[in-house]
Amino acid sequence: MSKLTIDNVRDQIIGIDNKVPLLDGRLVQYINLDNAATTPTLRPIFEKVNKFLPWYSSVERGAGFKSRLSTEMYRRAREIVRKFIGADRDSYTVIFTKNTTESINKLAHRIDFASDDIVLRSIMEHHSNDLPWRLNANVECININPHGGLDLDHLDYLIHKFSQHIRLIAISGASNVTGYLNPIHEIAAKAHAIGAEIFVDAAQLAPHREIEMRSLDDPSHIDYLAFSAHKMYAPYGTGVLVGRKDTFLKGDPDSVGGGTIELVTADEVRWAPLPEKEEAGTPNAIGAVALAEAIFCTQQIGMERIAEHEARLSAYLLHKLEKLHGISIYGDTDPGNTPQRLGVIPFEVDGMPHQLLAAILAYESGIGVRNGCFCAHPYVLKLLNVSSQRIVTYKEEVAHGSHAGLPGLIRVSFGGYNEESEVDALIEQLQRIVRKEHHGEYVQDRESGEFKPKGYTENFDPYFSL
Ligand SMILES: Cc1ncc(COP(=O)(O)O)c(C=O)c1O
Repeated sequence: MSKLTIDNVRDQIIGIDNKVPLLDGRLVQYINLDNAATTPTLRPIFEKVNKFLPWYSSVERGAGFKSRLSTEMYRRAREIVRKFIGADRDSYTVIFTKNTTESINKLAHRIDFASDDIVLRSIMEHHSNDLPWRLNANVECININPHGGLDLDHLDYLIHKFSQHIRLIAISGASNVTGYLNPIHEIAAKAHAIGAEIFVDAAQLAPHREIEMRSLDDPSHIDYLAFSAHKMYAPYGTGVLVGRKDTFLKGDPDSVGGGTIELVTADEVRWAPLPEKEEAGTPNAIGAVALAEAIFCTQQIGMERIAEHEARLSAYLLHKLEKLHGISIYGDTDPGNTPQRLGVIPFEVDGMPHQLLAAILAYESGIGVRNGCFCAHPYVLKLLNVSSQRIVTYKEEVAHGSHAGLPGLIRVSFGGYNEESEVDALIEQLQRIVRKEHHGEYVQDRESGEFKPKGYTENFDPYFSL
């Protein structure tokens, strides 16, 4: 295959031409505008995995040629990840996990928190970078500013207030709701100045921007970082946790069993060296190979080209959305600022439930977006300015089994392969929706909150079946 570039990457997306059924019986090409959740697969990654499969065997567990080859490829994948984020071998260990969520849970268990240690995380975090800290440490929350970005003054206030009790600042590199990029190295320097550490949730950052862990003697270094391969065009079940070796050398692993030990006697265990100590059970060699290839693909295209392309598409969408009446956009609405953010744009059609809007886009134009609170309930409720009284009502409704009234937004998130014509299709459908010209009649399921066209039965079997 010729070199992967931002101009030809679309041709390399598996399933890009897939047609999906609409409510009126037509078949149209699917438009995926939900890349912040999961990206489709890139053909070179699929091909690399297929080439590996005939050689695939047990990793770190066999003497046979295929086992030795698989072990070597698994180790190489680890080194490719290490280079991708600039983590030096002496200071950092690269641990393969299932996804970012598993990485953060592992880290939250592995940091040896004292009873008065505090983790600062922000209100803009994905639940995966919030709940593990809530369960394992005392937490305080960094506020957002009126535009929905991180309030750095409030961070300074919290640092001043809790100073040496702060053990860790856990912050997203980029928001999965508004696409805001956080100044991670600036925050790292603030953390290190008070003897704390920083964890960066790079689930959204890694697919769109270059990352540098930097050296431990640089005050702006990152101590811990996590990301997922399925957001980088490699959906084969791998995530990464990169972290300071000294943390993981101490104590017992959070998950134990095969692969984590050097020796076990009837009454004693000697843990394996890092990173094996932290990877319990048979490793996902296929996932690691896929992630390594995803990194090569990203590097071939060039992270800057990806960022430029996504910024152009975001500016195009923002310009078009601005001109539509009855649409409210959240976060940074300025098309001139898109190079300084990710291509993640949340909005709503005034007066229309987000679940209904998402359903009309899907059933009447084959457009896939995400709706709801995007696993960031506190952030979206704050962006929507939902009162605490309303939140009490929502809690009661959920306790009584109804998600129908839950607030939320629509999110468009771009990948490097999306194109302007897809934005045009979205805008065209939104125009119809704000003019109330969509044709389906939809009914809401009280329990899930989802809207479905009345009387419509779905049959997936002609497309895919198990
Ligand atoms: C910012 C952020 N953090 C964490 C996660 C969790 O990632 P995963 O589901 O791959 O564990 C996501 C997923 O959308 C995310 O956007």
